[in-house]
Amino acid sequence: MIYYFALGVICVAVSLLYRKGRTFNLKNDHCLVTGGSSGIGLAIAIQAAKMGANVTIVARSQERLDAAKGKICSEVQNSQQKVLTFSSDISDDTNLKDIVIEAEKQAGPITILINCAGTSLCSRFEETPMEDFKKMINVNFLGSINMTQAVVPLMKERKHGRIAFVSSLAGLIGIYGYSAYSGSKFALLGAAEALQMEVKSYNISVTVSFPPDTDTPGFAEEIKNKPIETVRISESAGLYSAEDVATKTLNDVLNKKFMSSIGFEGWMMCTACSASTPTNSFVELLVQIFTAGIFRLAAFVYLKQCDYTIKKCPRERSTE
Ligand SMILES: NC(=O)c1ccc[n+]([C@@H]2O[C@H](COP(=O)([O-])OP(=O)(O)OC[C@H]3O[C@@H](n4cnc5c(N)ncnc54)[C@H](OP(=O)(O)O)[C@@H]3O)[C@@H](O)[C@H]2O)c1
Repeated sequence: MIYYFALGVICVAVSLLYRKGRTFNLKNDHCLVTGGSSGIGLAIAIQAAKMGANVTIVARSQERLDAAKGKICSEVQNSQQKVLTFSSDISDDTNLKDIVIEAEKQAGPITILINCAGTSLCSRFEETPMEDFKKMINVNFLGSINMTQAVVPLMKERKHGRIAFVSSLAGLIGIYGYSAYSGSKFALLGAAEALQMEVKSYNISVTVSFPPDTDTPGFAEEIKNKPIETVRISESAGLYSAEDVATKTLNDVLNKKFMSSIGFEGWMMCTACSASTPTNSFVELLVQIFTAGIFRLAAFVYLKQCDYTIKKCPRERSTE
């Protein structure tokens, strides 16, 4: 009886969580997207432009920035919107404050910061050089921290802002081959949890997005060197489009959700890992409470499946 009641509550809660959120108009907003010249970052920049925001994108290659600017400009809502580009390596913090000041001078106060620049690599732990571990931390973790440090004081002064970190499902669960990448993405969650506690009273929200495999130039590059075990484990999960990931992420940022998931598996994983993460939705909290046990069991079964897949791979290699 209690079980069916709980199940009923979960079904109602899930449908409430998935109801269509309100539509936002970002006419008076300025959205800065790191990694906005490609893949998920570019899709978020385009989405923000479509919603009326001024958009600034930051990445290293000026050529790719120029190409991305063309695409963003063709999607703006009105001709007054500004689209700015800045070439910079976010893992080097020396000029980020200057970029932020210049961007604000040209396009107004930054109200939304999306830390999307990142890179991934997939290789077995002992075959991953220390240089690669450092690179993952420097770009994926410290790069996001650098840009956020340049923006947070200004948002605090104005008592308004939305900050997002683009992590990964591999930032919630460690998968074969991702020791360097997962390490850098798990770190983002810890930093984001602490940061949100500090900035909440300044009307600044923090979101961490956990995309699954997404069809982007970065993903195409990553799969070239994946160990067979990682390929077999991840092939069941499917591939999402950058546009779908961008729409869901931006929507969750604007709705001030702390954990942003994409797809059913992503939602399950975020709910299962919610433990002590903040939530501003009572419905979400209810779902997390009622599903805790069953999702723990699902995670256990998933890990067992991974073990089985990994065990089978040497046989597969020798047959080949
Ligand atoms: N695609 C997926 O399956 C997937 C899944 C989960 C999470 N993610 C995460 O989503 C984010 C975007 O991934 P993506 O697949 O869209 O990648 P992508 O297509 O390779 O785009 C990466 C962007 O980041 C920029 N970037 C990389 N290193 C940088 C640096 N040091 N300084 C400044 N900009 C830098 C790149 O431009 P330049 O190279 O010109 O600098 C580019 O604009 C990453 O954080 C990634 O970890 C991706």
